[in-house]
Amino acid sequence: QQKFRKDYAPPPYTISTVHLDFILGEESTKVTSRLHLLPNYGQLQEGSSPPPLQLDGRKDVKLVSVRVAGTELSTGQYTLTEKQLTLNHLPPGEFELEVVTEIRPQDNSLLEGLYKSSGNFCTQCEAEGFRGITFFLDRPDVMAKYTTRIEADEANYPVLLGNGNLKEAGKLEGGRHYALWEDPFPKPCYLFALVAGKLSMKERTFVTCSGRRVALRIFVQEGNLGRVDHALDSLVKSMKWDEDTFGLEYDLDLFNIVAVDDFNMGAMENKSLNIFNSRLVLASPETATDLDYSRIEGVVGHEYFHNWTGNRVTCRDWFQLTLKEGLTVFRDQVVLFQFCSSFFFKMVNPLMNASAWDRCLRFFTEDAGPMAHPIRPESYIKMDNFYTLTVYEKGAEVVRLYDTLLGKEGFRKGMDLYFQRHDGHAVTCDDFLAAMADANGVNLDTLGRWYSQASTPNLHVSTSYDAATKTYRLTCKQNTPPSPGQDAKLPVLIPIKLGLLGPDGSDLPLRLCGPDGAVTELGTTGVLRFEEAEAAFTFAGVDVEPVPSLLRGFSAPVKMTVEGQTDEQLLFLLAHDSDPFNRWEAGQRLARKLLLNLYAAAAAGGGAHNTLVSLSREILNDNIYHSFKAMAVSLPTGNELLDCIPGGDPPLLHHVRMYVVKQLALQLRPELEALVKANDDPADQPYQFTAAACARRAIKNRSLAMLSSLEEPEITAMLLNRFKAATNMTDEIAALSCLVELAGPERDIALAAFYDKFRNEPLVLLKWLGLQATSNAPGNVGLVKTLVEHPAFNITNPNNCYSLFLGFGRSPVNFHAADGSGYAFMGDAVLRVDGINHQVAARMVSAFSTWRQYDTERQAMMRAQLERIVAHPGLSENVFEIASKSLK
Ligand code: ARG
Ligand code: ZN
Repeated sequence: QQKFRKDYAPPPYTISTVHLDFILGEESTKVTSRLHLLPNYGQLQEGSSPPPLQLDGRKDVKLVSVRVAGTELSTGQYTLTEKQLTLNHLPPGEFELEVVTEIRPQDNSLLEGLYKSSGNFCTQCEAEGFRGITFFLDRPDVMAKYTTRIEADEANYPVLLGNGNLKEAGKLEGGRHYALWEDPFPKPCYLFALVAGKLSMKERTFVTCSGRRVALRIFVQEGNLGRVDHALDSLVKSMKWDEDTFGLEYDLDLFNIVAVDDFNMGAMENKSLNIFNSRLVLASPETATDLDYSRIEGVVGHEYFHNWTGNRVTCRDWFQLTLKEGLTVFRDQVVLFQFCSSFFFKMVNPLMNASAWDRCLRFFTEDAGPMAHPIRPESYIKMDNFYTLTVYEKGAEVVRLYDTLLGKEGFRKGMDLYFQRHDGHAVTCDDFLAAMADANGVNLDTLGRWYSQASTPNLHVSTSYDAATKTYRLTCKQNTPPSPGQDAKLPVLIPIKLGLLGPDGSDLPLRLCGPDGAVTELGTTGVLRFEEAEAAFTFAGVDVEPVPSLLRGFSAPVKMTVEGQTDEQLLFLLAHDSDPFNRWEAGQRLARKLLLNLYAAAAAGGGAHNTLVSLSREILNDNIYHSFKAMAVSLPTGNELLDCIPGGDPPLLHHVRMYVVKQLALQLRPELEALVKANDDPADQPYQFTAAACARRAIKNRSLAMLSSLEEPEITAMLLNRFKAATNMTDEIAALSCLVELAGPERDIALAAFYDKFRNEPLVLLKWLGLQATSNAPGNVGLVKTLVEHPAFNITNPNNCYSLFLGFGRSPVNFHAADGSGYAFMGDAVLRVDGINHQVAARMVSAFSTWRQYDTERQAMMRAQLERIVAHPGLSENVFEIASKSLK
C-alpha cells in the first residue's frame, strides 16, 4: 500500500483525448468515457503482445461496460478488483477504449470525485479523486485533451459547467438539457472539473496585456451574490500581478470560480473552473473578518497562479507536489507581502510579519515530529496526507531561497527558462532547480538537498571582533537533526542575509573579505552563501564592534542561535534594526526567554502562584515593558513555546502565558487604553479592507484582549458594549472572543445574541462554533459535546468539523485536560468522522501527532488513543497512515 518515489516508471500507455459524457441523475449518474490510447511501451518484441492496461478505480464506482476498439469485452476478458480494472490482450498500436460506469454522487460523503453539495453536483479530483468517477490512468503524467458533455434536469440544474470553452448547449426531451465543453489545453485528470446546479453568477471583464477579453465569473448560491466583490477584485489583481511580475498571461476567454459549502480543503485550481470552499470566496464586512478578507485574497491568487505553476507546467508524479505548491504559495505570498508593506506606518509591520513567522512555526513543529518528511516525500500511503505545511509552507521557503540567492532578476530568468523548457509538460523538482541554475549559470547542488532532507536545520553563529585589525568575524555552523528514516544529513545551502548595526543603530557598509584578501562591497544588507558544515566570514573596516542582524527577512527556514547574544543586543535590535522582520524577531526572542524562564520556575514550584509573582517581578523589568509597548504586544504562541519545552505541560504553560499577559496589561493599562482610543474607527466610517485600516483594528483589538485579561467588571462591560455596537465582523468577533474566555454572565449573553443574529449564516456560525470549541474555560469539553448535538452543527460538513474538532484540539487547557477527557473525546470523534470522510478524519487525528512533546502522563493517554484508533476495524488508509506513523 506504500508508494515510493524511487519506483517511478512512465506508464505503458498514455491518453491523447478524453471524451466524457455525464448523465446526471437523482438515483444514479452514468459516465461514459471514450479514450484514445497511445502505446508508450516502446517497440514490441517479436511475438510478444502489448502489456496489460491497469486502470485505477474505487469500490463505489460500478463498472457497466468496457469496449476496446468498438468491441465490448465479456467479463472473462478483464479483471476487476476493488481498486483496479486490468485489461489484457490489447491490440498493438493506438486504440479506442470506452468505459461506462455508474456512480451515486449523492452518497459520496468522502467529497472526492463527483459529489453533491447543497443539492449541486461538483467535483474534487486532486489528488486521486478522478478514479471515483471512472476507471482511468489516474496519475499526473498522463496529459490529455478533454471534452465534457453534461446532461441534467434543467429546472434543478440550470447551470452546467466544465473545463475550457462552452462549445454547444441545448434543450432535450423531458425537461432535460445539456452542455458541451472543450478544453484546448492537455491536462492531467486531477484538473478535471464539473459543476451542475442552481447557482447565481456575477461577472467582470479583464483585458489581458495582449488584449484578450476574459470573462471572470463567480458562481454562488443566490443569497450570496452580494458577497463576491472582494473575490472578484482579488482575481483581477492577481491576473495583473502575474503579467507584470512574470509576464504570465491568462490563456482562455473564460475563468470561472464556483463556491461550494462542502469541501475538504481550501480550493482547487481545475483548469478555468476553480472550485472553492465557500468560506474562501464569500465576504462582506458584516460576516467576514480582516483575516478572512486577506485569506480570500491569498487563495484566489493562489489558485489563479496555478494556471501557470501547476496547470501549464504540472507535476510528473505526486512526490513532486511541492514543485507546484511551494512555488505557488511563494507567488501568493509575494502579493500578500506587498499589501502588508504598502502602508508602512510604524505598528503595522510587526503585526503583519507575525503571520509569516507563524506559518514557519507551524511547519517547524511538523518538521520535528513523527510525520516529518522532506518537502519532496519519499513515500506515502495516501497522497492526500501529504498536502502538508511542509510541502506548502516549507516548500515556499525553499523557493524563496532561489529568490534570495539569485535576486529578482535572476529568479525571473529562471522562471522564463522553466516555462520555455517545460510548458505543456509534467516535470520534477529537479527540472525546476536545473532551470534556475542554468538560467543564471550557477551551481545549486547544495540547495537541491533541501528537497530530500526532512527536519529543520540548526544554524549556530558565533562572532568575534578584533579591534586591532578592525575586522569582524562570523563563524557559522549548521546541522540538521535526524528525522524518521533519515539519520545522516548533509549540509544545505543557507543564504544568510545580514546587516551590521553601528553604535547609533544604523547599518554599516559591509566589506566582505575573500580568501585571497580581496574585499567585496555588499552594501548595507548582504547575502552570505553558507553551504558547508562550518564556515567563517570576515568583514573589514569595522571601527567598533557592531551588533549583528542575522537572517534578515527570515532568509532561510532554519533555527538560529547566536552565541552570546545578550538581552541588551536584542533590545538594541528591537529599537533600531532597519530590517522589520528582525526587529520584530528580536522582541520575540526576548519574550520567549522570559516565558520559558517563568514556565521553568512554575513547573519547579508546582505552578504555585507566588513563585510566578515573585519571578515576574524580577524578569519583567522596565526595559521589557518598554519594548513590548513598542510592539503593541504580541507574545509567542503556546505551541511555539511548547516546541522548546521537552515534557511540557500545556495547561500550565497556558496559565503562565496568561499570567504574563495580565502582568503586562496591569503595567501598560494607560498605554493600552490610549492605543484603543487612537485606533478606534469613527462610528460612522464604513468598513475598509486596507492595510492601514486592518492594522488599526488589529492593534486596537489586541489591546482590548490584553485589557480583558484583567477581568475587571468595568472592562468586561465595555467589551459587551463594543460587541453589541460592532459594525463589522472583525470587531464583533474580537470582542466576542474576549468574552468567551471570561467566566461571567456576559459570556452567555454574547454567545446567545451572536447565534440569534447569525442563525441563518452557516459561515458565520463556523466562528461561533470555533470560538466555543477553542475556549480555555475549564471543563469546556462538556459544552463542546453539547455543540456536537446542536442543530447548527453538521458533522458531514468539513468546515464544521474543522471549527469544532480542530478548534477543540487547539485548546491547551481542555484538549490536554489532565484527566484525559479531551483526548477521549477527540479519539471518539476521529473514529466517527472516519466513517464519513477520511480526509477530514485524518486531519483530526493529527492533533495527537505531537504526543511525544508532553509529560509522561499525557504521553501515555495520547498514545493510548492512537493505539485504539489504529486497532479500529475498517479504519481508512488516511487515518491509519497518520496514526501509525505517529506511533512509530
Ligand atoms: N491544489 C489545491 C491547492 O493547493 C489543493 C487540493 C488538495 N486536495 C486534496 N484533496 N488533497 O490549491
Ligand atoms: Zn495549491
